[in-house]
Amino acid sequence: MINKISASSLIELAKNYQTPLWIYDAESIRGNIRKLNQFDVVRYAQKACSNLNILKIMKECNVYVDAVSLGEIKRAIDIGFSPKCDKHGVAGIVFTADVFDRETLSFVVANLIETNVGSIDMLHQLGSLSPGHRVWLRVNPGFGHGHSNKTNTGGINSKHGIWHEQIADALKITCQYNLHVVGIHMHIGSGVDYSHLKRVCDSMTNCVINHQIKVEAISAGGGLSVPYRPDETEVDVKNYYDLWNFARNKLEDKFSTAIRLEIEPGRFLVANAGLLISEVRATKNMGEKHFTLVDAGFNDLIRPSLYGSYHHISAISTEAGEYSLSKMQKTVVAGPLCESGDVFTQNSEGIVEERELPAVNVGDYLVFHDSGAYGASMSSNYNSRPLSAEYLLDGDKSKIIRKRQTHADLISNEIMVIPPQMNSS
Ligand code: LLP
Repeated sequence: MINKISASSLIELAKNYQTPLWIYDAESIRGNIRKLNQFDVVRYAQKACSNLNILKIMKECNVYVDAVSLGEIKRAIDIGFSPKCDKHGVAGIVFTADVFDRETLSFVVANLIETNVGSIDMLHQLGSLSPGHRVWLRVNPGFGHGHSNKTNTGGINSKHGIWHEQIADALKITCQYNLHVVGIHMHIGSGVDYSHLKRVCDSMTNCVINHQIKVEAISAGGGLSVPYRPDETEVDVKNYYDLWNFARNKLEDKFSTAIRLEIEPGRFLVANAGLLISEVRATKNMGEKHFTLVDAGFNDLIRPSLYGSYHHISAISTEAGEYSLSKMQKTVVAGPLCESGDVFTQNSEGIVEERELPAVNVGDYLVFHDSGAYGASMSSNYNSRPLSAEYLLDGDKSKIIRKRQTHADLISNEIMVIPPQMNSS
């Protein structure tokens, strides 16, 4: 959504609702969904951005939902997703996890939430309480891939999924409890690499064929990449689909039955549909380096600090009411937190980097693009900073979709025992 929204609209929103402010564009989300229409089921990995209003857009566009916690299951139910299967035999919500905490297990059992199981212990825990429960097996094929080591979800260093050599054991346990195996799921990480993808597809077909698993569906997981840098290209969705469709067709031929192909994207649906706008609050020179300090920190957008992720930054001059493009200078962009890693321009080793950006003054704005995925959903209250507001642009239905947290919200669960001598009454 680079500079898709006019600078004057952003200035107006920033002035009306305070910065930092998340802004999403509903039409961009709908457009991203349409790009995946060849898949039988698009299941949104809501961890990318779980605001109820974003989930509502997904539901209106016939997208299903993935949940990775009790909170996410409840959000999906709040918005009207059903745990039950629809007329196509597809569950509205699938819970994906490697562990059940006790509260989630009880809820999953009581509400028959279809579960994508990532450990053998989960199968025992679910099977003993809920024989016949619908499950997927999440397989760790023994290798993975990710835009950072922290987003690689396959191989021996990943805690995710059932190890590929233990699928036979897992299947025995599903028989023991009469669990209904819906399908096999593989998500090896975020970021597409086609040679890798081919390996994943082969792993999927080998797993299903070698173990003779009568699946209704297979899931390609998520991980479709998006271009964060201006020189990066969009993922070739057709190529991606063709590889998975080939795998599905092979299985259909082998088992002479129709098999549903699901995909489970997070960032692909929302990353480019969101931005974070922040106000410049200070500029300073430190030796040879020039710093611009804004009012957003890694409490808002943690991806640069956590993974060294690149988010394109543009500057808006309040005086001109326009995006600034001139007087470029090498700049380090940092936030307000009392923590030296609170820098938006750094690499994956945590080394501070400079970026060519237009000169800005206090009161101008910096916009962090493509931050609709894993932006607001990964925000925290570090340094007792409130969660920022979220705004949805959607024609005449544009509105604030999450209010800025107040100080009262922030401390509402803290229990204060006031010593008698301090109690003035
Ligand atoms: N399905 C499963 C089982 C997953 O674990 C994930 C992401 C997805 C789908 C969605 O992946 P996506 O399509 O969004 O790449 N916080 C990181 C990403 C970690 C994602 C973990 N799992 C980031 O900011 O890049």
